[in-house]
Amino acid sequence: MTEGERRTLILTGASRGIGHATVKRFSSAGWRVITCSRHAFPEDCPWEAGPEDHMQIDLGDTDSLAQQIGVLRAKLNGGPLHALVNNAGISPKGGQGERLDSLTTGAEDWRDVFQINFFAPIMLARGLVAELEAGAGAIVNVTSIAGGRVHPFAGTAYATSKAALAALTREMAADFGPRGIRVNAIAPGEIKTAILSPETETEMIPDIPLRRLGTPEEVAKTIYFLCSEQSSYVTGAEIHINGGQHV
Ligand SMILES: NC(=O)c1ccc[n+]([C@@H]2O[C@H](COP(=O)([O-])OP(=O)(O)OC[C@H]3O[C@@H](n4cnc5c(N)ncnc54)[C@H](OP(=O)(O)O)[C@@H]3O)[C@@H](O)[C@H]2O)c1
Repeated sequence: MTEGERRTLILTGASRGIGHATVKRFSSAGWRVITCSRHAFPEDCPWEAGPEDHMQIDLGDTDSLAQQIGVLRAKLNGGPLHALVNNAGISPKGGQGERLDSLTTGAEDWRDVFQINFFAPIMLARGLVAELEAGAGAIVNVTSIAGGRVHPFAGTAYATSKAALAALTREMAADFGPRGIRVNAIAPGEIKTAILSPETETEMIPDIPLRRLGTPEEVAKTIYFLCSEQSSYVTGAEIHINGGQHV
């Protein structure tokens, strides 16, 4: 790929898990990847041009987010954006690691979960719409199997934020489509990352037809597909990546 043809991705939550596998997938295909998360660039697992293109952002901090989006736009320097992947997400638990349900979730957790999992994706997409339009870009929102059914470990705020994000994906596909921007979601099931509860492996595998957890790399491959020419007529879709857990 020459510099003029090089494609650019902005990815939130890149420091570990699904996001980290996604950086590696896109980087290996020659994309420039601009990453955002609270922690500094991970020196133990670097990727090309990572430090210069990594931004430390707290997506839970509403006040600074608008200004940070300005910094992201400056990094693009008027150039096109080909993909935005809203991957960062949180799933808070109680003090003993217990599930927070609709009776036990505190106001602060509701606020943080909705800010990071739901409001940040639409703020970023709106803030970057001109660059996405210039790049005939694709947006991928990372939802969850928990958005569609009560989950034994994922809490109520998390589940409802992901259900709202799935609905938002549909709305965005309608609104961004006329500008040539595709908007899709991926809904992972149980993927081997830090967000999972320790009991997941023993308790949930019997309910998964493929009888195993998924890997971050398997999720990254689907995100890549949705940002590539291979999916040029796909918009408003939510793809399950869960080994058949939803059936
Ligand atoms: N793993 C699963 O089985 C599973 C299942 C369904 C859906 N998902 C969804 O997939 C996405 C990625 O999950 P994962 O399992 O890879 O999670 P993870 O390992 O916990 O990683 C979460 C990422 O989000 C970033 N992040 C968290 N809070 C942030 C904040 N306030 N501001 C900026 N970045 C923030 C983290 O980076 P910092 O800590 O550096 O901020 C990290 O890179 C999430 O949206 C999650 O809900 C995962």
